[in-house]
Amino acid sequence: MASLIKAVRGTRDLLPPETESWNFVEAAARDCFRQYNFHEIRTPVLEDLSLFQRSVGEDTDIVSKEMFAWEDRARAESEKGQWLALRPENTAGVVRAYIEHKLWERPGVQKLFYMGPQFRRERPQKGRYRQFYQIGAEIIGSPASGSESPARDAEVLELLATLLDRLGIENWSLQLNSVGCPEDRRRYNQALQQALKPVVAQMCSDCQRRAVTNPLRVLDCKVPADQPIIEKLPRISDYLDEPCKQHFDHVQQILKAVAIPYTINSRLVRGLDYYVRTVFEFTHGALGAQNAILGGGRYDGLSEALGGPRAPGIGFAIGEDRLVMALTEVAPATARLPDVYIAPLGAGMDAEAARLAGELRRHDIVVELGDESFRVKKSLETASKLGARYAAILGENEVSSGQITLKNLATGEQQQVPRAELPNCIQTTRT
Ligand code: HAM
Repeated sequence: MASLIKAVRGTRDLLPPETESWNFVEAAARDCFRQYNFHEIRTPVLEDLSLFQRSVGEDTDIVSKEMFAWEDRARAESEKGQWLALRPENTAGVVRAYIEHKLWERPGVQKLFYMGPQFRRERPQKGRYRQFYQIGAEIIGSPASGSESPARDAEVLELLATLLDRLGIENWSLQLNSVGCPEDRRRYNQALQQALKPVVAQMCSDCQRRAVTNPLRVLDCKVPADQPIIEKLPRISDYLDEPCKQHFDHVQQILKAVAIPYTINSRLVRGLDYYVRTVFEFTHGALGAQNAILGGGRYDGLSEALGGPRAPGIGFAIGEDRLVMALTEVAPATARLPDVYIAPLGAGMDAEAARLAGELRRHDIVVELGDESFRVKKSLETASKLGARYAAILGENEVSSGQITLKNLATGEQQQVPRAELPNCIQTTRT
């Protein structure tokens, strides 16, 4: 027997009925985006590797360890192949597109949203996949468009709280911090390095390495024994310059005014290099170790780093896999069932059944079609197994008389219904 081919490690098939929950989430997100005046952008899954090296950062885990990247075949023997990567996130692609299509020439800030797969070669576990899905949004524009304003930060956070509430997801927590500007971070890094020197020998091996390569990452450490040491380290809030401090205060004032609860988490620094000022994550208790349901922040220098004009921006990405997990805790996925199963009776009736199905579907009725080769008993059994509410039996008599036999599969009741009244009859009993 031929060997079985399975889905690649860290990837998975999403099957019905779970896909109903995915559709539900995506529809709610699209509604929200429309009301907040965001428009959809679709960028390629494949990008030039250097896009991520220059934005997310070469020293980050995402780029240094987790990229799916390869040198593409060269077009001519004399040429080198281009290094391509499957996108690990979508902010870089959106900003590349913003620059490439000169979107700053359009009026106001650009408010763009996206939904789609992202790829990171991480160790798979619950809530962590190598192909996962994000629903994200970015607000970006020239400084004159107001894209730098703290009001944009608050707008994005308020949108997220609204979306989670509408989805019925409770017990989320908004963790908020400011990582200041690059100069603030340089001073903070120095202070961290100094403070770590006398204590680092007592810390875990990861922290010992991070203390040298990237001291900010020490703040992410989850090893219990290291926590008391980390708690005593300097906080970035003490290293923010005056404009950054004021910006962060302003964001918080608006959040208070619109009653969005938040917690300042001075250890939240995020694992992507492009962030400045506001950074945030929404966490959810039911998710276990991978409890960040979404993350985001400001990236005021990113456009310039990619060769574009100054274009401050802020955005977020929801981990859709995790959001659906949190949602199915509250509302388990349920299959959508057909309203009616049409049972064609006898030779030549498939075509009649197709015609009737067309009439019903135009009334937004969910129709499943039987087969003229089935006997009535088999048709009715199939209809029941599929969970249809009704079976409509369609033989030569029904076609010529215009009276369809409609059987309620829950009660067993059967009646003759004039063809024109069939849609109404099926719809009025819909729950
Ligand atoms: P991120 O924090 O790397 O940010 O990812 C955002 C969310 O994607 C995470 O909070 C998590 O829910 C989900 N996620 C990340 N990796 C995985 C994985 N391996 N499996 C399942 N879910 C995962 C970004 O990607 C930024 N681009 C967000 C952003 C937009 N910042 C500004 N604009």
